[in-house]
Amino acid sequence: MPGQTGDVPGPTGIPPGPTGDVPGPTGVLSRRAFLGLAGGAGVVLAAGLAGPRLLSAGAQGTGELLRSGIPLPEPFRVPLPIPRVLRPYTKDGTDRYTITQREATAEIIPGVRTPIWGYDGTFPGPTIESRRDRTAVIHHRNELPVPTVVHLHGGRTPADSDGYPTDLVLPAAGWDDGHSGHGMHDARARIAQGSRDYLFPMRQRAATLWYHDHRMDFTGPAVYRGLAGFHLIRDDEEEALDLPAGDRELPLMIADRAFDEHGAFAYPSLDPTLRTTPGVTEAYVEGVFGDVILVNGAPWPIHEVAAARYRLRVLNASNARRYDLALDPPPPGGGGFVQIGSDLGLLDAPRSHDHLPIGPAERYDVVVDFGRYPVGAQVTLVNRLGTGPTARVMRFVVARRAPDESRIPPKLSDLAPPSRSQATTVREFAFRGGHVHGRAGWVIGGEPFAPDRMSARPRLGDVEIWRFVADVHHPVHLHLVGFHILSRGGRPPGPFDGGLKDTVDLSPGQSVEVIARFDGYRGRYVFHCHNAEHEDMAMMANFEVI
Ligand code: C2O
Ligand code: CU
Ligand code: CU
Repeated sequence: MPGQTGDVPGPTGIPPGPTGDVPGPTGVLSRRAFLGLAGGAGVVLAAGLAGPRLLSAGAQGTGELLRSGIPLPEPFRVPLPIPRVLRPYTKDGTDRYTITQREATAEIIPGVRTPIWGYDGTFPGPTIESRRDRTAVIHHRNELPVPTVVHLHGGRTPADSDGYPTDLVLPAAGWDDGHSGHGMHDARARIAQGSRDYLFPMRQRAATLWYHDHRMDFTGPAVYRGLAGFHLIRDDEEEALDLPAGDRELPLMIADRAFDEHGAFAYPSLDPTLRTTPGVTEAYVEGVFGDVILVNGAPWPIHEVAAARYRLRVLNASNARRYDLALDPPPPGGGGFVQIGSDLGLLDAPRSHDHLPIGPAERYDVVVDFGRYPVGAQVTLVNRLGTGPTARVMRFVVARRAPDESRIPPKLSDLAPPSRSQATTVREFAFRGGHVHGRAGWVIGGEPFAPDRMSARPRLGDVEIWRFVADVHHPVHLHLVGFHILSRGGRPPGPFDGGLKDTVDLSPGQSVEVIARFDGYRGRYVFHCHNAEHEDMAMMANFEVI
């Protein structure tokens, strides 16, 4: 949280007006109507609503564009990298892995050397593949200059391995100073020196998870420097389906970045060493957008495909940017994305889409049939919320004909969402701009994050309905549990709300109800906004499963 040091001027206590590189025209709702929707917002919110762009539900998110200081590369020249799959070093009942977090240099922009922080020195980190119900133990060693925390996003993980923000792994080389802000006064923190094991029992269905840094107050810049990777869970149910597999299954980690004039990642940290003072400069309190779109760490890459079905596991690993993905050209007849899964695994039945809106940390599992295009076709994955360079993501080239044994069955999985009548409790949390220790930040239910403030105590096994309301865009994420979306904006869930989710992207002024069963493990977990700048500036809260 910012405001923990006395030396940074933080005069306003109000998030700056909304900005971004998309011309935001709307004015669809009057400010009064908007405030009505958001409900009893109070002074802070009203003052923060300086501009009308905010009201555009289709905007690329809440944030401010950071422009690169080097010329941007030509799109569609760099081949799509596929992150290496990490092999366990022993499999005696448990899959054991070891990962070293370290500094490295990557050639992201051709001819330019970019310092990164990477799991095993790569960005993205290596992909881990687990089987359902098979425990994975991952030994993480921290050779970075600052403390780290590993969180498996989407994992049904015991609390002591969930990457609670104060459960630091201190640098192996030693750590003397470091920040000791409000949030760090945590009697329950489990601090490790240099390395530790994280244990994941994997008692959960097949899904596309990802792991990333979750250090208190510094998640945004740490992930931005490269601390993110895929962790896939596979199971028999999914493998019985004959979905596209092998090299026809592509994990796609989409993330925007900006580069400074030396080719380093540009990020507006108040303290670029990430050692003591958290937070970003005032202009970026709403979030950081870059002008280069990376997929698996490559700028606007290109990938040759056969004229066949491909399974794309799409992850938005951006700090703040939302995308609306589409295929250009669309295949004849449309419906180019056949969604088979959401954040936490298979849908009950496939669902066709022409586009995919995706907020930070959300995932879509989709099948694209490139056999619907002629050989030679160039199919660009575009971002309908971007302009100029941010309007494109990557390109597929349909290179050859090929046999295709895959299929998409009409029924994928049994999903039995709990019903409203099963819920024992309804809770409401407002996600808004607010004061955080005297500076501009973000709060949940009026409160900035504090490790000892418990916002909910669900009982193990109970079903609860949580209602979220937002002022600006907030992708809301719960640790430990998956949920189903019950309503959005007072209406039934939309076409992209299906399946088991762990992150729900709220539009300005929107309210969303989700229903979850709090089972798995007892203990203290967080829920938070996954706009990483909001998260670092206190938009996080605790729940304790009792
Ligand atoms: Cu991916 Cu607590 O987050
Ligand atoms: Cu998470
Ligand atoms: Cu937010």
